[in-house]
This record gives sequence, structure tokens and C-alpha cells, in this order.
Amino acid sequence: MEKTFFIIKPDGVRRSLIGHVIARVEIRGFTLEKLEMRDVSREMLDRHYADLVDKPFYPEIVSYMTSGPVVIGVLKGSDVIHSWRKMMGATNPSDALPGTIRGDFAHASDDGSVENIVHGSDSTESAAREIALWFD
Ligand code: TYD
Repeated sequence: MEKTFFIIKPDGVRRSLIGHVIARVEIRGFTLEKLEMRDVSREMLDRHYADLVDKPFYPEIVSYMTSGPVVIGVLKGSDVIHSWRKMMGATNPSDALPGTIRGDFAHASDDGSVENIVHGSDSTESAAREIALWFD
């Protein structure tokens, strides 16, 4: 059975949305295989976002993702990587459709920063890499 890695980011935790996000997972029928609250270190973030560390917006990601605890977990189910990405919605909340987590719980910010509640692995390779990074 396929697995994916997810994060409920600091804005989701701060805004008491953990239950709302997990409820969607459960109602959709995916299995919650792991679930844990964590503080994220800069080192862990650099490894997780290895593809983005050179981007101009990376410092914003660091301050956002270290602004409070996150909830991390592993979901299991048929085609769960793709399905979870669809459930999250588009990266920028202003592009995220209603019915998605980002489209229902987040909105664009005036300063252009992106706070979008959740993360999900984008491929089987990323899922394996991220599960090993965060849980092994
Ligand atoms: P990315 O992996 O491209 O998007 P997703 O989270 O939808 O898989 O980007 C990771 C995070 O980086 C994204 O959730 C928010 C942040 N980000 C920005 O702040 N600005 C940007 O222009 C992009 C592309 C991402």
C-alpha cells in the first residue's frame, strides 16, 4: 500500500486546525500510520527542502516553518500521494480551490509570503525520502 509524508505547518497548529485536517484524512478513508508533534530544526528543514535552499524565498520558509511546532505524519492508502496533493490544493492559497485544505483554510497574504497550512510529498521518491528523513 502506498504511503505519503505530510506536515501540518505552524499556522495550522497555531490556528487549531489539526483536528480539521486529520478529520479530512479519516473521512476520506486513508490510514493514519504515524502522527507526532515536533519542533523543527533549521538543519532538518534544510534537508527536507534541499531543492529550495537556494531560492530567494527560502529565508521566509525558514522563519515560517520554525515559528512554532508542527505536526508530522504518514498516511497510507491507494494512490495516497496524488490524492493528498489534491486534498491540499494549489501551493499559493489564492489559487487553491474551495474544497481543498488550502482553499478552505488559508488565504493570500499582502506581503507575498506563502502560509499554506499543509505539506505533502510530491512523488514516490519524495515520500520515501521524507518518511526516512523525519521518522528514521
Ligand atoms: P513547493 O514544494 O514548490 O510547493 P508545495 O508545498 O505545494 O509542494 O514549495 C514548498 C513551500 O515553499 C510552499 O509550500 C510554500 C513555499 N513557497 C514560497 O514561499 N514561495 C514560492 O514561490 C514557492 C514556489 C513556494
